[in-house]
Amino acid sequence: MAVYSRIAGTGSGLPEKILTNKDLEQFVETSDEWIASRTGIRQRHVAAEGETTCDLAERAARAAMEAAGVTAAELDMIVVGTTTPDLIFPSTACLLQHRLGANGCAAFDVNAACSGFIYALSVADNFIRAGNAKTVLVVGAETLTRMLDWSDRNTCVLFGDGAGAVVLKADTEAGILSTHLHADGGKKELLYNPVGVSVGFKPEEKNAGVRVLMTGNEVFKHAVKALDAVVDETLEANGLQKSDLDWLIPHQANLRIIEATAKRLDMPMDRVIVTVHKHGNTSSGSVPLALDEAVRSGKIQRGQLLLLEAFGGGFTWGSALIRY
Ligand code: COA
Repeated sequence: MAVYSRIAGTGSGLPEKILTNKDLEQFVETSDEWIASRTGIRQRHVAAEGETTCDLAERAARAAMEAAGVTAAELDMIVVGTTTPDLIFPSTACLLQHRLGANGCAAFDVNAACSGFIYALSVADNFIRAGNAKTVLVVGAETLTRMLDWSDRNTCVLFGDGAGAVVLKADTEAGILSTHLHADGGKKELLYNPVGVSVGFKPEEKNAGVRVLMTGNEVFKHAVKALDAVVDETLEANGLQKSDLDWLIPHQANLRIIEATAKRLDMPMDRVIVTVHKHGNTSSGSVPLALDEAVRSGKIQRGQLLLLEAFGGGFTWGSALIRY
């Protein structure tokens, strides 16, 4: 009998501190009107000093495990999508595993920038389908604001911090119907952070290069095109029509990108989960945060068909079609 992964529980972890567009106006040349009209963002959560990606991941993970009724001892694997790990190593997944008391199970990070959660979900789903894991914790967690240049208005207004998590359990009923992952490393310069281990940290220059570099309008165009293609691919792979979908749960980078995908799917915006106005772009955190909010608010019901998608640096992009 075929084995699928089902979402048994979801959770969120957001920092308490909120930075509004009005707050940003105080230290960078921008306006609430500009940010809101170009991106849909009104505010974002920002990690406090000393608060790390693993702190947010732990909060989201505990909430998801509680919702799923799963204990740490039951976890076979932890996969964390993140591009802002606490440390270079050990992975954030290993740090999280120890905090949860799940020592012994497999634990690793996946770095696919803003597509990190979709990539992590796909990896976990494939382990379950292959019969190599039964219960997997999947997290998307980021402290993107740690690598922002707060004087660069092109980027600092866009991002926020946060984490979302799901517990996947093996089941004979679907579950995750399919996942679709893509990347194009040829577009690196359009969205990247140039600092890294083997290229050198340049610690002598204050904040040297530790920042997101982005050509916003180019990223916008590529994102819309790639997401159009991947949602078509997902429906086609499952022999489904646009009208079969109940909810679109998109990556929360920009309301205009979200609206473009919804239009492609002929979906009215009241069937699209939108959190970008409250969270900004939380990279890997954005899709699971939106999913958790929609589940907890009662919007998403068991049995409904969900389309998750994301796009990010790399470029990377992907989707997951889920019978919730
Ligand atoms: N406040 C005020 N003005 C700003 C600004 C800000 N925060 N940021 C940029 N501007 C200015 C620019 O300097 C430019 O001015 P100029 O015409 O005098 O040079 C003007 O606004 C228009 O810039 P442009 O880049 O053409 O705007 P846009 O409509 O493309 O919107 C983004 C910019 C970044 C909001 C948009 O391109 C975007 O969201 N792209 C995708 C980014 C993304 O999602 N990245 C993450 C992917 S995971």
